[in-house]
Amino acid sequence: MVYIKSMQTETAFQRCANPACAASYGIGEVLTACRKCGWLLDVAYDWDRVAAPRRLKQFEKKWASRRNPLHFSGVWRFKELLNFAPDELVVTIGEGQTLLRSEPEAARYTGLKNIFLQYEGLNPSGSFKDNGMTAGFTHARMVGARKVACASTGNTSSSLAAYASASAAIKGGQKMEAVVFVGSGRIAMGKLSQGLDYGARTIQIMGYFDDAMRRVQEVSQSQGIYLLNSVNPFRLEGQKAIMYRILEGLNWEVPDWIVVPGGNLGNSSAFGKAFGELLELGLIKRLPRLAVINATGANTLYRLFNEEKVRWNAGQYDRARVAAFYKQMDAERRDAHTIASAIEINRPVNLSKCLRALARLDGLVAQADDQEILDAKAIVGRGGIGCEPASAASVAGTKKLVQSGVIGREERVVCVITGHQLKAPNTTVDYHSLQGPELQKGFKDYGIRSNQFANRPIQVPNELPAILKALEG
Ligand code: F0G
Repeated sequence: MVYIKSMQTETAFQRCANPACAASYGIGEVLTACRKCGWLLDVAYDWDRVAAPRRLKQFEKKWASRRNPLHFSGVWRFKELLNFAPDELVVTIGEGQTLLRSEPEAARYTGLKNIFLQYEGLNPSGSFKDNGMTAGFTHARMVGARKVACASTGNTSSSLAAYASASAAIKGGQKMEAVVFVGSGRIAMGKLSQGLDYGARTIQIMGYFDDAMRRVQEVSQSQGIYLLNSVNPFRLEGQKAIMYRILEGLNWEVPDWIVVPGGNLGNSSAFGKAFGELLELGLIKRLPRLAVINATGANTLYRLFNEEKVRWNAGQYDRARVAAFYKQMDAERRDAHTIASAIEINRPVNLSKCLRALARLDGLVAQADDQEILDAKAIVGRGGIGCEPASAASVAGTKKLVQSGVIGREERVVCVITGHQLKAPNTTVDYHSLQGPELQKGFKDYGIRSNQFANRPIQVPNELPAILKALEG
């Protein structure tokens, strides 16, 4: 272990998320589960001993000193709220320069008076994952890790690969060896290209994300490789910052709803923790509600929450029911299948923490099918904010929740747009250009019947009159 003893490493610790266990561990330990009961861990703080800000507005002071990389970062400028590392060991590559934008096109589409899109596609590797990866790499550096790994549907791996290589360029930093496990043929082209380009050893497993996840856990444990999936509690500390930036964008006012796509459920878990802590610290007076949107083809959380009625229940959630659900899922060979490949996941590893977030934020779970997701994606694109399919689930889900009256037309809603449009360009081009039977064929068995928001490319011969005619339409 190389970390320097400091105020941060003395006042932060790891704690089992199981309230009935609550075992605690030092910040220098490398764990992805509680040694006593096997649950996930949280990073926790001795708030009485850390200098927590008294008002959120205090963070604005850092805007004036952007030459300091910790103040430039959209994660570390909130360091007082994730204060587990000495400043000199922070690994940052300028993540979190993202945007909260009021978006009229999406507002009309969803039936809301106004809607805000939090565009996390603007991160260095093009997705929200960088928020968590900066925190995870910082901890990896604190404990002297040299080799890091993850399983991924493509964005975690892109982010990990970028940070591993960029680590060498950071003052006092060292390049890390990166290994990523992905389901063969199950990740979008843009994402595969990123991992290869950034130099990660890319292991394509003949299977799904869930298989890759199991394998990477096995391998990292036996080989002593530092695991950077969201079972790593430090990752989620970084992802809390997405919520801080939303508040910043809203002049520190709490919105009525946060809507987020749900895959492995790291984001929703982190968001619940972020708001829970802000309330505990007296930095906000009320909580937003949380809506997690599954793809219909990968709807484990939706079914567990709405059909099996599984609830957090102060940590005593019905694990037997969850186990029976998974058993039946296996027996029926019900594999996740959605065009939103980022969230094509059967067994979300952060289920317990997400249930806790849903309880804390009076949350609910909805689902959107691939047609709804692609239509919503086209609407987001029209607004000039391109996103990948999974990200549009938040907008598609919002539309349904407004239609059913769960979300009021006047309410202040923020949809998290998790990944950039260029992650999955083929899907976008197919949606906009294919017609009739070609459309269904192009989207194979995803059930895409129409592309009502298509912006078709116009084919013309290389002749001026034909070009002028094409300009008329
Ligand atoms: N949106 C995008 C673009 C994602 O890449 C992911 C997850 C999610 C939403 C779901 O977020 O897991 O926090 O519920 N991608 C992971 C990956 C699984 O490997 O890149 P979650």
